[in-house]
Amino acid sequence: MSENARLINGEQEIEFPLIIGSEQEVGLDISKLRAQTGMITLDEGFVNTGSTRSAITFLNGEQGILRYCGYAIEDIADKCDFIESAYLLLNGELPNSEQLSEFRSAIISEMDIPEGLINIITSFPKDAHPMAVLSAAVNALSTYYQDQVDPLDCGQVKSSIRRLIATLPTIAAYSHRHATGQKLITPCPELGYVENFLRMMLADEDGNYEADPDFVDALNLLLIVHADHEQNCSTSTVRMVGSANTNVYASIAAGICALWGPLHGGANEACVNMLKQIAADDGDVEKYVDMAKDKASSFRLMGFGHRVYKNYDPRARIFKKACDELLEKLDTDDPLFLIAQKLERVALEDEYFVARKLYPNVDFYSGVIYRAIGIPVEMFTVLFAMGRLPGWIAHWQEMHASPSKRICRPRQVYTGPNGRELPEISERS
Ligand code: CMC
Repeated sequence: MSENARLINGEQEIEFPLIIGSEQEVGLDISKLRAQTGMITLDEGFVNTGSTRSAITFLNGEQGILRYCGYAIEDIADKCDFIESAYLLLNGELPNSEQLSEFRSAIISEMDIPEGLINIITSFPKDAHPMAVLSAAVNALSTYYQDQVDPLDCGQVKSSIRRLIATLPTIAAYSHRHATGQKLITPCPELGYVENFLRMMLADEDGNYEADPDFVDALNLLLIVHADHEQNCSTSTVRMVGSANTNVYASIAAGICALWGPLHGGANEACVNMLKQIAADDGDVEKYVDMAKDKASSFRLMGFGHRVYKNYDPRARIFKKACDELLEKLDTDDPLFLIAQKLERVALEDEYFVARKLYPNVDFYSGVIYRAIGIPVEMFTVLFAMGRLPGWIAHWQEMHASPSKRICRPRQVYTGPNGRELPEISERS
């Protein structure tokens, strides 16, 4: 392949460098386009725009490949726990046993949150959405550590990162217990990360909770598989906000807000609500498939489709298998799992979905697993945020470490009125 690509516009011919990634993906570097031609590129929704070079996650949507730092997601899900995967994403390499135990202990020892922050969380209305509480609490967390918010100080950033990973489950669980009027259960230093979260969420008023090892494994799996997905909407938001040298807490709070939307992480909650609706409607899957195809209706099949996967989402495959195994072990038939399987079958055979390469995505089966563990539906996207946190942070760090870092500032093609005279108020209609 040549090193440059040529653009011919009338008499003008300009060369642009080609950037080749380690998996032979090719990017056209158009950063000098405007300076040389006066033109910009227009790509609404960033369908075809590379915003950065990144060494964290590789995904190939056509072949259904997903790797963190070169390791296949299937292998990581099989051999690592969430804390180990977080270390990998944050450091680019797997930890040895010493590094892992230092990292794990540092996280577990920091899971408590300041008293003032508990007061903030418990002063929100009980029916507040936990994603609103989560983003507000993450921003508020920084106010208790104001000597550690400099985004350009490596030591401060390192402690902030560990604090964020340590406290997100606590903030999440406290928001749930406040919403449900239950006593808060403080973290227990003898327990693991996932075990702590489950206990803080689901223990009785005296803190009694016996974690089922299958639930711990399933939750680890869910968190690992969500941990990164390259330049998705929330990760791009974290990078964009962080590019202004905004501190890591505020950048992550922004990412949480982006994730909340039903077209992104909020799809897991929306998907289970849709499955419930279908179940209540006599399980009439075909009716909902028809609705999704009807261009006059705004209804979409939640948990289907993806901007980059034009093949089966490998994460959905992992979750479907885990769903199967968990429900079999628990010896329960979740009717929503049965509806999900039927919906998948019908949609995958339907010409509309086949032609558009719409496959079940990561949010399709995750909700059924959360339900089996006992996580309430409004907490699903919060769990996604807990999983995605190391990925967000890894990208925030990578962006700051890049020698080519600049504030993110897209351009536009202006389509409004041309310059005009400002009329006096009495002359306006
Ligand atoms: N149900 C019915 N039709 C759909 C769906 C769906 N779920 N998704 C896409 N389409 C159709 C869409 O109407 C369009 O049809 P046409 O070409 O006739 O106009 C075509 O497929 C392409 O869709 P698009 O909206 O241009 O695709 P996009 O890449 O902009 O959007 C998406 C991707 C994920 C937002 C979209 O597929 C969607 O809304 N899915 C449902 C929500 C969902 O499950 N989101 C979770 C995504 S995975 C996890 C994450 O990213 O957080």
